[in-house]
Amino acid sequence: MSELIEKLVTANQEELAKHLESLSGEARSLLERDIASQNWEELKALHAEKSSANLADNISSDLKPMPFKIAADDLRYDFWKETGEILLGKGQVAAFLVAGGQGSRLGFDGPKGMFDIGLPSHKSLFQLQAERLQNLAAQVGHSIPWCIMTSPLNHEATVNFFKENSYFGLNREDIRFFEQGTICALTPDGKAVIDNDRLALVPDGNGGCFRALAQSGTLAWLVERGVQYVFLYSVDNALCRICDPAFIGALAADGRAMSASKVVHKAGPNEKVGIFAYQDKKPGVVEYSDLPENYRDMTNADGSLTFDGGNIAIHLFKISGLRKLQTSKLPWHTARKTVCGIEKCWKFEQFLFDAFPLLGSMLPFGVIRDEEFSPVKNADGNDSPKSARTMIGKLHREWLRKAHVSFDPKKLYEISPTISYAGEGLRQSIFDRELGRNILEFEEEN
Ligand code: UTP
Repeated sequence: MSELIEKLVTANQEELAKHLESLSGEARSLLERDIASQNWEELKALHAEKSSANLADNISSDLKPMPFKIAADDLRYDFWKETGEILLGKGQVAAFLVAGGQGSRLGFDGPKGMFDIGLPSHKSLFQLQAERLQNLAAQVGHSIPWCIMTSPLNHEATVNFFKENSYFGLNREDIRFFEQGTICALTPDGKAVIDNDRLALVPDGNGGCFRALAQSGTLAWLVERGVQYVFLYSVDNALCRICDPAFIGALAADGRAMSASKVVHKAGPNEKVGIFAYQDKKPGVVEYSDLPENYRDMTNADGSLTFDGGNIAIHLFKISGLRKLQTSKLPWHTARKTVCGIEKCWKFEQFLFDAFPLLGSMLPFGVIRDEEFSPVKNADGNDSPKSARTMIGKLHREWLRKAHVSFDPKKLYEISPTISYAGEGLRQSIFDRELGRNILEFEEEN
């Protein structure tokens, strides 16, 4: 018996072993490759554990809110910003984009970063991010390495898109693309799902990013470049201030924390965001659906929500934290879904916010939602391309107002990240020169 077959038999995957033996040539080597990519012992244990357990994640009774303050109101804000700019200028900061998701709610056929949210410029999410990075790099006088995690389902399309667009003017050597891992879907009784002679492999969740960063050699690449801080963000936040210097400076100034996360006040008790909290004294994120109702509605003496720190998926890690996480075991979350026509299959995923309890102390950094958080999740309604366009239009109009520029107050504005990273450097002469080029007017939609 070959080693591979033996492994499968030990893991109760006899059917898969038989299927493999029935194949020859190219089909056999492809399936062999899929099988070799999986940890069969772990899958067996996972199925045993999940099928005997209550699927809801256990919330400890020792749940405490994580207080936070809006960073821009802090007297140290300017110091943090300058510190962050110095660190960026020394090349000690990198951006890490997790873009391996399938974007199923948006329903766009392709990597979400290629999506045009319908701004007057018709720039894709990737382009908006690339231009923001390029502007910041020019301001601090140093390139910013950009790590982009894809999945086997969208890797090629992502890399081709960047290539076709000449990397949006960035240096190719400053960008590293790499794929996240996959995990096999299992039938209700724990057998590997086979799809046309291949395994039904699905991306292992955004929590797979720590393993993938290390295994792809990207962590070593960052260390070699002298990077100390890694800014980790999601592909679909149209307002993300990538590598925000003040955020970086705040973590650098904090002697204890291994990571920092941006936090917003919840829009209301029923907003479907995860919240930052301490569970059994460890910092972390509790998903909306796991937060008991009495905690959701709990208020302080002044009427504000007690569990109020919304997670907007913008994090910063010290490189030592990422080193630790490359071998840490994050828990697996489970969903029961129809896969290849088989109902109630097991799909497993890791979440990156499960890293926080493993790292110990973290720094919550409060930000204003309208300035930094506009996720594009759904095709319509809340968190959609339309809501993102409107938020960008209003925010950029506000930047013009603060810069004492005279503009049409009935219009919305799109200011290219190539001329302003976060509202700085705007004045009347620039507005007059750039209107119709890098500053575009548009109508507010109903
Ligand atoms: P979401 O949880 O919003 O998932 O991802 P999604 O795949 O983009 O969208 P839906 O749920 O299918 O509609 C948050 C971030 O995590 C990344 C996504 O690309 C996004 O940037 N992600 C998610 C990964 O990188 N890998 C995954 O396996 C899942």
